[in-house]
Parts: sequence; C-alpha cells; structure tokens
Amino acid sequence: MTRINPITAACLVCFIAISATYAQPKSIPQKVDALIKKMTLAEKIGQLNQYNGDWAATGPVTTDVGNKLDAIKRGEVGSILNIVGVQHTRVFQEAAMKSRLKIPLLFGQDVIHGYSVTFPIPLAEAASWDLDAIKKSARIAATEAAAGGVHWTFAPMVDIARDPRWGRVMEGAGEDPYLGSLIATARVKGFQGNGLGNLDAVMACAKHFTAYGAAIGGRDYNSVDMSLRTLWEFYLPPFKAALDAGVGTFMNSFNDLNGTPASASHYLQRDILKNKWGFKGFVVSDWGSIGEMINHGYVKNNYEAAEAAINAGNDMDMESRSYINNLAKLVAAKKVSIATIDEAVKRILTKKYELGLFDDPYRFSDAEREKRVLNTPETIAAARDAARKSIVLLKNNNKVLPLSKNDKSIALIGPMVKLKKENKGFWALDVGDENQVVSLYEGVQQHTGNAKLLYAQGCDVTDTTRTGFNEAYKTAMQADVVVMAMGERFDMTGEAKSRSNIHLPGVQEELIKAIVATGKPVVVLLYAGRPMVFDWTADHAPAILYTWWLGNQAGNAIADVLFGSYNPGAKLPITFPRTEGQIPIYYNHYNTGRPAHADNDVNYTSAYIDLLNSPKFAFGHGLSYTTFKYDNLKLSKKSMLKNGNIRVSFDLQNIGDYAGEEVAQLYLRDVVSQPVRPVKELKDFKKLMLQPGEKKTITFTITKDKLAFYNDKLDWITQPGEFNLMIGSASDDIRLQNNFNLDN
Ligand code: NOJ
Repeated sequence: MTRINPITAACLVCFIAISATYAQPKSIPQKVDALIKKMTLAEKIGQLNQYNGDWAATGPVTTDVGNKLDAIKRGEVGSILNIVGVQHTRVFQEAAMKSRLKIPLLFGQDVIHGYSVTFPIPLAEAASWDLDAIKKSARIAATEAAAGGVHWTFAPMVDIARDPRWGRVMEGAGEDPYLGSLIATARVKGFQGNGLGNLDAVMACAKHFTAYGAAIGGRDYNSVDMSLRTLWEFYLPPFKAALDAGVGTFMNSFNDLNGTPASASHYLQRDILKNKWGFKGFVVSDWGSIGEMINHGYVKNNYEAAEAAINAGNDMDMESRSYINNLAKLVAAKKVSIATIDEAVKRILTKKYELGLFDDPYRFSDAEREKRVLNTPETIAAARDAARKSIVLLKNNNKVLPLSKNDKSIALIGPMVKLKKENKGFWALDVGDENQVVSLYEGVQQHTGNAKLLYAQGCDVTDTTRTGFNEAYKTAMQADVVVMAMGERFDMTGEAKSRSNIHLPGVQEELIKAIVATGKPVVVLLYAGRPMVFDWTADHAPAILYTWWLGNQAGNAIADVLFGSYNPGAKLPITFPRTEGQIPIYYNHYNTGRPAHADNDVNYTSAYIDLLNSPKFAFGHGLSYTTFKYDNLKLSKKSMLKNGNIRVSFDLQNIGDYAGEEVAQLYLRDVVSQPVRPVKELKDFKKLMLQPGEKKTITFTITKDKLAFYNDKLDWITQPGEFNLMIGSASDDIRLQNNFNLDN
C-alpha cells in the first residue's frame, strides 16, 4: 500500500476545498443548484410569483401590491406578464438587477397570432391545414416578440373545442385531435425556433391544461365533466404533441375537471404531465386560477389554495398572490416541503438559464433590433399569404366567384367593409399602427382596375336599425355584382365571450335577404371567430366565403380570393351546426345503437324530429375554383400485422380550369371494437397544388399508431379486425373507400 506523507495529504485536502469553493458550475443543472443554495426561502417563493405589468390586464387584478418595481427589487417577483417593448421591459429588468441575487425576470405575453404584424386568428389559420404556413406565422410572431423584449408567449392554445358557443374556439385549432396535434407541433416549433437561447426564439406555453374547451354549455370558465377515456383520446393528444415538440411550459386551466380544479389537479400535473410524460419545464397557473379555487368551493382560503396548487405541481402563480402570501407559512407548518418549493424554483430557473437571461438579462432589449425586425416586407407578405390560405369557400353556385374582370361596377355592402384595426381580431396586441391594417375596401380598391366601386354600410353588426337598408338596396341595384361583408364583431369571440345565440347577429341576415332579392350576383363574406348559424344565407346566397378575422392583410387577402389571383383551398377545422340546438356536434362521434340512415330519418333513430341530422357544413369542407377528381385507390395489401403497414395510394387530378390546392383527407373507422370507436377519424392528409389537368399519385401509410386507441383501462391498444378506409375532400365528401384487416 502506498503511504501518503501527511504534508501532501494536507495540501490535497486544501486543494479540493479551494477548487470546490471556486469551481464554476458548468451545466445548467449545476448552475441552478449552485444558485438555489444561495437563495433564502423568501427569494425562492419570489421566483414562483408572477404579476401583471402596468400596461394591460387580461384578468381581474385582485390586490394592489403597491409599487411593483419595489417588490421586484426585494426579490419577490419571478415573472411579469403583459408588458411589451424594449423600453418598458428594460425598466422592470433594471429593478430585478437591483435585487440581492440579480435573478432576471421572465417577461410573458399573450402573443397569440402575431406581435406587430398580425396574422389570422388561430382557428382561421387552422383552416389552412398548412403546417408550414402555421409554423412560419409563429416563427415571425416569435422573431418580432423577442425583438420587443418578450421571452415567453402564452401560446399555443391547444384546447380541442366542439362547442362554437365557447368564445375561445377562435384561439385553437378546432375539434380534431389529429389535426390539432400537428398544428400544436408546428406552433411550438415556430415559436421556439432553433431552441431557447436564440435571440429570435420565445418560449412557448401549451394551454390550458386541461379540457378547458369542454366547458359545459360552451360557457367560459365552466366546469368540465368528462370520462377519462374521452380525455385521453380527444383532449390530451395536442398537449402531448406540444410536449414532444419541446414546449417549455404548460399553463393549467380555470375549469374543474370532474370536480377538481385543474390548478390543484395532482392527476393532471404530476401523474400525467411530470411523471408519465416526463415534462421538464414548468407549469404556470392561469390568471388568478389558484385563488379562484375558493370560489370553486375546493378550498377555504388562499392559504389552502396555495397548498393544494403547489403540492399538485403548479409551479408559478399568475396573479393570485396565493404563493407569495402563504408559501412561507405553509413551509413552516410543514404542509409544503422545501423539496417541493425547490423543485418548482429549479424548473423556472432552468428556463431562465436556457433563455440566456443570466448571461445577459437585457439580451432581448435591443432598441435597434426592435426597429429593424418589426413589419418587414417579407413578414407582411407572409401575413397576406397566411390570410389567403385561411379563407374557406363554403359555397359557389353558378361559379359566381372569382369575380369577372368584365364587371364594371362592384358594390361593397355591410358593416365590415371599412373596418381597419378590428381586422386584427381578438387577442391582438396594440403594437404597430392602424394604418398597417388593410380594410376590405382598400384591398378591393387595389384590384378593381377600371371597375367602379360602390359602398353602403347597410346595417350595424348588432344594432337592429334598418334605416340603411334602402341605400344598400339602391347601391346594389347599380352594381354588376355585390359583395357583402357581414359577421360578428371581432370582440364577440375570445376569452369570456361565449354566446348562447351564435346566429349572424342583428338584422344582417335580413339585409342579405333584401340584397339577394335584387337578383344580382351576391357574394357573402362572413367575418367571425367561430362557426356561426346563418341558415337562410347558406341556402340562398350564391357564394359564401368564410373569412374569419384575418389580421393586418385581411383586405388584400380577401381581394386576392375574390378576384381569383388566389384560388381558395382552406377546409373547416370544426363542424358548423344548423342551429345551436345541435351543439355539441362533431364529426368523430360514435354511431349509437339507432343511427339515422338518412338525413331526415326520425323513425326511432337518434335524431331530432325538427332538424336534419347532418351539420350545415362538415368538418373538412371547403371548395375551390377548380374541381378535383379522386381515382384509382390501391392498397398494398388487404391485411397487416401489428408491426407491419399498408400503403394506400390513389390519383388526384385537377380537372377544372384553375390551378389550385386540395387537402386530400384520410379517415379510418374501426368497424367492431370494444369499447366502440368513432364513425370516422382523420388519420392523415396531404395538401398539394395541381395545375389544370395535372394528376399526382398520393400515398399514405397505415401503421399501428393510426389504429391504436385507449381502452377502458386507459391502455393504448390495438384490436385485430376490420377497418374502413375512406379518402375524400371532406368528412362528408368521401370519394374512395376500401376495407382492410389488422391481424393478430
Ligand atoms: C387568462 C387566459 O385564460 C390565458 O389564456 C392568458 O394567457 C392569461 N389570461 C394571461 O393573459
């Protein structure tokens, strides 16, 4: 055995001690651990606390904390939401740099569909089924937001929504978990770019976890009562997709799910998200949702609310002040462990390190970059393209559209024609100026050439005065063609904007009747943040474009479509009901024991005796100026083994006169299954452009994951047996069908 001389041994001990003191931690986990060791309990709790900035509140501000800058200097705040702009955010960051440990603040903001250049509302973008365009729009929003001092966006909202009364349908991707998951992935990747730490990336947030979209009666903030199988099958997949795409944070939701408010749900936040799925980021509450558990009747006071939330895995408290006021007491009372606090703090600090804020807390505060990046010609062109891609051609009788170049006069009628900044839609930021928004009138003006442009407002959106009808009628009579811009106001959807009556509001449908009665060709544009009910218009107006709220380039994009310089190719991402009484209505439902065999079959079937069974417009519906032919379906084999696959191919041909894009959709049905499966589920799609006459072969591959589902025990399984395969242009327009088997 080698003997170490005592002096050498003493030096060695000294050396180890000195290097332990001065060794710089290298990895982020090491840095986080080192920092946490220096933090007092109060400083740790501060990191879990998020306040609203001083500019815009997106919820009720509960208590006044006095001067927020002082609270920041005392280390009581980890994050601020609702402040934008290099100048504004810098003021807050400077305060953080005066705190003892100089831990930088995280600036969060609802950057939902654009920052300065506003893109279409998310539901509209979802109608494009164009994942590259959706990713690009998030990329541009992130680049602009990051240049404006924002680190973190509270987006994407990935809530599945089957109820158009719910005002927040406008914020998501509609009703389908497959499409919703792909869009969630595209948005997360768009926002986070090449990863946190890049100067053009903002951290994304998958919200609202979870089932918020299933609020009973479509009334915002309402309870959700749902089987766990439905939760796993339909509502969780987009969240899982966001997680797999690397989303940095999750936001929980206002609702209770089966009796437990989401903010206190151990099952959602710990069992599923952090344990089963291994999520490494952090969970922020929704605005005040921790404190609101008192109203839910779940806890007595904020003290109990804080205890329930932190123990359930809610890391950051947005604006309820439950954590800042109670966590220290809860730790002293041993109701919350230091380990639980440390875990939450670590998750938050890790993100601050990943964003590079410890290297330079002002790295997102460069005034010159802010000026250079906002509203470039490229981003404006991208917004126009995204807007055109979002417009759905619902109907086009007698090929009224595109408008003829020979029209000598065009009448623009309706309350939306001259709107400017309203085109941005709900959840748009007050960044940039109104002149950057193109109204319909301005857009059409650019396209009309020598044609005369006539205008009458006709009526208001909600007001029932008919005094403008006469002038509108006279204007229509002087025109070769009439374009009517109708709909619901932009702020009739969004948070806390549920409607029990989703009809086209006011006297608008009466005005449409009066103008259609002139016998002139009429095109109706419908501006909305949700599916509306407009039965008469749907049946009698020759042409309808659903334009949603399209953002800064709305006027140009609509004009592109009206005049045929762009051929619409969007498809509905959500079912349009005939009346409110049909809600919830969605395409991927079960068959029941007494399905109706025809639209008007009420002979002891599952039907309404006063309404047809079908929706007004089905999921996946959307026309084009051209016509597509589906043909020549081939399956590589008629049965597959569990780990095998079947290749499905078919020909798609453009047999019309215009170049155009089609979204070819693949649906599957598991014919016999226990538990039962939906009549149809979207499992793949392909969007492609074809020139007139052009034909392309499309191939889809069926693999096990397209056939699997959750059984009653919530196991993800496949069952052998027969499957129907349907390919078509919409969920109710299936052109090709065949069957195949999954063998054991
Ligand atoms: C409440 C909303 O539900 C949420 O989506 C949003 O991010 C926060 N307020 C912050 O504005």
